[in-house]
Amino acid sequence: MSISVADQLDLFDIEVKTNQRDQTSTTFIGNMKLPVHRWFRYSAGFSADWVKETIRQYAKDKSMILDPFAGSGTTLVAANEIRFPSIGFEKQYFVNRIANIKLHYTFNIDHTKKLYNEIIHCPVSKDFNFDGQPELLKNCYTPEILSILIAMRDKYNEIADNSFESEILWLAITAILRSTSHAGTAQWQYIQPNKKKKNAIDPYAAFSQKFSEIVWDLQLFNKKNITAQAEILNHDARELLQAYKNAFDILITSPPYPNNYDYADATRFEMIFWNEIKGWSDLQTRVRNGLIRSCSQHSAAEKLNLDTILHDPLLVPISGEITAVCKELEQVRLEHGGKKTYHTMIAAYYLDLAKVFINLRQLMKKNSIVCFVIGDSAPYGVYAPADIWLGKLALAAGFESWSFEKTRDRNIKWKNRKHRVPLKEGRLWIRG
Ligand SMILES: C[S@@+](CC[C@H](N)C(=O)[O-])C[C@H]1O[C@@H](n2cnc3c(N)ncnc32)[C@H](O)[C@@H]1O
Repeated sequence: MSISVADQLDLFDIEVKTNQRDQTSTTFIGNMKLPVHRWFRYSAGFSADWVKETIRQYAKDKSMILDPFAGSGTTLVAANEIRFPSIGFEKQYFVNRIANIKLHYTFNIDHTKKLYNEIIHCPVSKDFNFDGQPELLKNCYTPEILSILIAMRDKYNEIADNSFESEILWLAITAILRSTSHAGTAQWQYIQPNKKKKNAIDPYAAFSQKFSEIVWDLQLFNKKNITAQAEILNHDARELLQAYKNAFDILITSPPYPNNYDYADATRFEMIFWNEIKGWSDLQTRVRNGLIRSCSQHSAAEKLNLDTILHDPLLVPISGEITAVCKELEQVRLEHGGKKTYHTMIAAYYLDLAKVFINLRQLMKKNSIVCFVIGDSAPYGVYAPADIWLGKLALAAGFESWSFEKTRDRNIKWKNRKHRVPLKEGRLWIRG
């Protein structure tokens, strides 16, 4: 079963209202010009410059930084750049691998070039079987382009040697899969085989360019003596990691939003290319497990009991409000064709975040600073105020205060929208 792009995007069309600097500080756009950050474009990141500014503003000499939803590693790379140690959690294994590569800067240039040369000069099979390739790939590439990319992939698999240098090559191939496809890419990473874009880049040119970009940036970091003081763990942010109790002074993160975006699906295209999953059904078993339940695929009504979730003691601080919203959604969904399980999605999402705050209270030192870049949502037009609910859950977990700083409005274009609720994105500052 697949969810349409229109449906996925329905909840979070973005329109900018505030000033230029502010609105880009909660996006990834600016990072595509920055060394190392630019290696892979990942959705829902935030600006690395803003992360650095924030760390500088609050850090003391030996402050330890945490990002419990590290994604492609923006916070961690930024912390490295200004020489603060950091730890990240990222439960989506494919994204975790990408972030890991962005957190190593020592490399052997000769070995890297040798691997690169083997891949770029590998012959393309004359018997390439286009028809035998996965459907999604056939829809996204011409036979000629796909034969080149598959030849690169197979060569990589043949010569990969578990070294960081071969990880660089893996990333260089992974990072060009979208720019070399004629398929459109929707906002937030969804591939759209039926939408054609004008300029697909030649795979050899894209690969060379990405490779030289990575090597250039590594050399730049080495020249600046930037060393990796960060580690990214394949850890679920809801669970305590004893080793890091009371370890952190500053937390900067952007968790999944309760807006039906599926982080398991975010790299489905790349995972299919690398033969790691066969298709949609593998996402649930291999990728989605362990992720915050922020999408309806993750909150099937037959698997989750709404009342059981709503009666969980962890939701007591918001129980009246969340029960009203979820019960309304339980009714409203019946009026919609898709009958999406947003009622269980919202309930499960806030229960997951309650667990995250309880965990974070133990990981963060007393008087620490916590910043969550968040967005609220209004599935089927029913508004769930993320700032207030998350603020209350943070206080219930033992933090002392919270405040919300809006950075931009979302969904303010009424045309074609099903609902009329202005949504916002911004920073939830939590202290104590
Ligand atoms: C908004 S993105 C973070 C993007 C990040 N700021 C960056 O620079 O790329 C949220 C991330 O949280 C991850 N995630 C979801 N559930 C998680 C969990 N239970 N524990 C750790 N990470 C999780 C998702 O896979 C996703 O990569």
